[in-house]
Amino acid sequence: MALVPFDDRDGWIWLDGQFVAWREAKVHVLTHGLHYASAVFEGERMYGGEIYKLTEHTERLFKSAEILDFEIPFTVAEIDQACKETCARNGLTDAYVRPIAWRGSEMIGVSAQDTKIHVAIAVWEWPSYFSPEERAKGIRMCWAKYKRPSPETEPVHAKATGLYMICTISKHAAEKAGYTDAMMLDYRGYVAESTGSNVFFVKDGALHTPTPDCFLNGITRQSVIALAQAKGFEVIERHIKPEELADFTECFVVGTAAEVTPVSQIGEYTFTPGNISLSLMDDYAKMVRRQLQPA
Ligand SMILES: Cc1ncc(COP(=O)(O)O)c(C=O)c1O
Repeated sequence: MALVPFDDRDGWIWLDGQFVAWREAKVHVLTHGLHYASAVFEGERMYGGEIYKLTEHTERLFKSAEILDFEIPFTVAEIDQACKETCARNGLTDAYVRPIAWRGSEMIGVSAQDTKIHVAIAVWEWPSYFSPEERAKGIRMCWAKYKRPSPETEPVHAKATGLYMICTISKHAAEKAGYTDAMMLDYRGYVAESTGSNVFFVKDGALHTPTPDCFLNGITRQSVIALAQAKGFEVIERHIKPEELADFTECFVVGTAAEVTPVSQIGEYTFTPGNISLSLMDDYAKMVRRQLQPA
């Protein structure tokens, strides 16, 4: 499939309060966000004309900015509205939505107190992060070389670009070795999350998921916990050691992009996508399309 570069497409991007032609939505090479990772972003999905948990995502964007010590020069309601308008302007009702806020070019040292804060919103069609074949069989993952850092090392609860450096390196290594993704441990050696999604395991009909104390407590993760509890499943949030994976029968990852995707392998451990993973995958797909009451 020919790659269509993301800077060479038709459409409109919302930039600092106005729509600009897609190809004109540019930044200068001396942009603080590019040099020092002073940027925060969101990933959202619109299903049938409605962005799932839009305000939760926008509020997380503002929280991430606050953690990075900058203030987004719009209100949450204005960004919510801009996300909807960007979808409409591009004629999309099913889309991936990417808001991003970053420090501009006024200063380019570590200190960046007087930089202007910019915000852009781009939307595009992105059907499934993993292919339908992969999702049906379950994706294969290896262990990542890098670990999720301690909250004393990085602002781990911000969805900030700098935290993705080790994700891209780990995902590339996984792909080069023939896997779809990599599972990351945390700084203590507990199972944490994949390079772009949270993880759940199944044992004896109960769900086990790592406590999000040093990585993103994903919005999808919270929705899936509520869905599972509404179906009567016990959900246990706890620290999970890698060797415990031998005792789990099913595994799946969840995230806005990944939705609910079964996993068939993590390193030396294998799983069989079963009823619980598949029924939650189905329920989540229905819930985001409002064919099922939210839990
Ligand atoms: C590293 C990481 N963890 C978890 C998630 C899941 O978060 P959410 O469900 O809010 O999309 C994402 C996706 O945004 C992610 O990039």
